[in-house]
Amino acid sequence: MKGVVFTEFLEMVEDRFSADMVDHIIDDAQVPHGGVYTAVGTYPHGEIVAMVMALSQRSGTPAPDLIRVFGQHLFGRFVLAYPHFFIGVKDAFHFLSGIENIIHAEVLKLYPDAELPKFIVEHHDPHRLVLLYQSPRHFEDLAEGLMRGCLAHFGEPIHIEREPTPTTAGAHAQRFVLTRQG
Ligand code: HEM
Repeated sequence: MKGVVFTEFLEMVEDRFSADMVDHIIDDAQVPHGGVYTAVGTYPHGEIVAMVMALSQRSGTPAPDLIRVFGQHLFGRFVLAYPHFFIGVKDAFHFLSGIENIIHAEVLKLYPDAELPKFIVEHHDPHRLVLLYQSPRHFEDLAEGLMRGCLAHFGEPIHIEREPTPTTAGAHAQRFVLTRQG
């Protein structure tokens, strides 16, 4: 996983909890890189999972909630870091339907070793967007948080529902049904 995900996560922990909390979770998780990450480096996905679990233990907040909040935070950071991805994008469905072929395709050009999930657009009309997430990393809570961050960015009242989805070919799958309200 790219270092930018780690650096953003630790910054969020410092902002929402404290610098001491950052030190505690790095100690608790006993991560090999000891909390030293560079944005362009690549680190084992398990290290961020271990730090999320440690934060969950210390804060008493369930890990999926922490990951969702992190996804929202991360989206806000992406908006600042990659403003060109938003040029000419008229709404959230337009943006989200392009994660696979536009956004993550560009991310892969910047970071050829990025480990990205697969998003299949199963349905797209002005009222409903259905996205199928597939990844061996099982980060559907992060995906939901990023989607919520995107909806907040565009300020659109859209409801997100997660449907139970069978795992395919070893990759965890999760279907997201987004419905425009009103
Ligand atoms: C400007 C927008 C975006 C940028 C720049 C971006 C970039 C990235 C980067 C750099 C990673 C890390 C790859 C790695 O660790 O090797 C990543 C992972 C991921 N991205 Fe995006 N992303 C964007 C939007 C989104 C959105 C809107 C979603 C969800 C709908 C999404 C879903 C994910 C997920 C779930 C992962 C974790 C890896 C996995 O699940 O396998 N991304 N993205």
